[in-house]
Amino acid sequence: MFEQLTPIAQDKILQLIALYRDDPRPDKIDLGVGVYKDASGLTPVMRAVKAAERQLWEAETTKTYTTLAGDPAFGAAMVDLILGAGFASRAAAIATPGGTGAIRQALELIRMANPAAKVWLSHPTWPNHPSIIKYLGMQMAEYRYFDTATGGVDFDGLLADLGRVAAGDVVLLHGCCHNPTGANLTGSQWEQLAALLAQRGAVPFVDLAYQGFGDGLTADAAATRLIAGAFPEVLIAASCSKNFGIYRERTGVLIALTQPARTDVMQGNLNFLNRQNYSFPPDHGARLVTMILGDASLRVDWMRELEELRQNMLSLRQGLADALRSATNSDRFDFVARHRGMFSRLGLSEAEVLRLRQDFGIYMVGDSRINIAGLNAASVPILARAIAQVVG
Ligand code: LMR
Repeated sequence: MFEQLTPIAQDKILQLIALYRDDPRPDKIDLGVGVYKDASGLTPVMRAVKAAERQLWEAETTKTYTTLAGDPAFGAAMVDLILGAGFASRAAAIATPGGTGAIRQALELIRMANPAAKVWLSHPTWPNHPSIIKYLGMQMAEYRYFDTATGGVDFDGLLADLGRVAAGDVVLLHGCCHNPTGANLTGSQWEQLAALLAQRGAVPFVDLAYQGFGDGLTADAAATRLIAGAFPEVLIAASCSKNFGIYRERTGVLIALTQPARTDVMQGNLNFLNRQNYSFPPDHGARLVTMILGDASLRVDWMRELEELRQNMLSLRQGLADALRSATNSDRFDFVARHRGMFSRLGLSEAEVLRLRQDFGIYMVGDSRINIAGLNAASVPILARAIAQVVG
């Protein structure tokens, strides 16, 4: 039977981890996978997470099952963190293994409700979006998103493409910190987009993996809140990997907003999907998040540290934009300072990306996406000079 299996091409982002690891050069620079790193290259366990883990170790008396949805307190805390007050009666939620687990469950829910549903993705998007959709045998379409000439959003292209959405189509939106480009809509563009999608009868599906990494914890939720208030049905897949730094704990949530009278049916369907795919979702990371969000002092400390991470990425952005300006003697890369989140797509060719890897030991995704947090004060000018050489 298994001789039928064919080799699978490796994920382009994850592939870089091994390539980087196997590179013996001591001055190599890793700007690949989206993991936060401090100036010394470490991905720290956040202070509030450590404190919650200590408390949990002392206080936890059982590891018996929670519920199929996970601990309901986790779902409620995440609905509150993402949406604020006023949505509880419309919200069904399940804990999932990471944000990817939430995306997978959302797509399965869509397929269960309508096997013919079409899912619209931004071009470009996180490569695992189309990969999972294809794997599930679902229909997909793309809408223009990135303007390579300016490094900003091609908003006219986006509106033109999404103007062709049919009623009941699902439109996947990056709630903040677009991955891979780093280019994001303004508040008024989000309003125009929401009005268009409402007029078309679309179902929005928000992927929110970087809340707190862009303009701040509340500002990064603003677009999701706008969408949540404007549509009767919304799916939100959120990750705690980045903003709580608990990548390997696999902590995410899928929130499905529906009419209040349909919340129980929705919750039952979400629970069913968890049961079919892995039964009870992982609890450890979700419990830490619930403890942090529910405890005033842990929450304040977590918010403070998250803000430190965000500010660090912002100053690296500005530093890189400045260094590129002087190294290339042009404003070509000024958009890096305007981008938000972990990533920026630099607009280099695949050959230039390869040269950076081979000649300079600088690792970025083939589409020239860099992880800003992979930089530090010392590597910013090194990267800028290397880029200037390969584009010059
Ligand atoms: C990324 O885009 O680098 C992250 O979301 C990690 C991943 O799983 O791809």
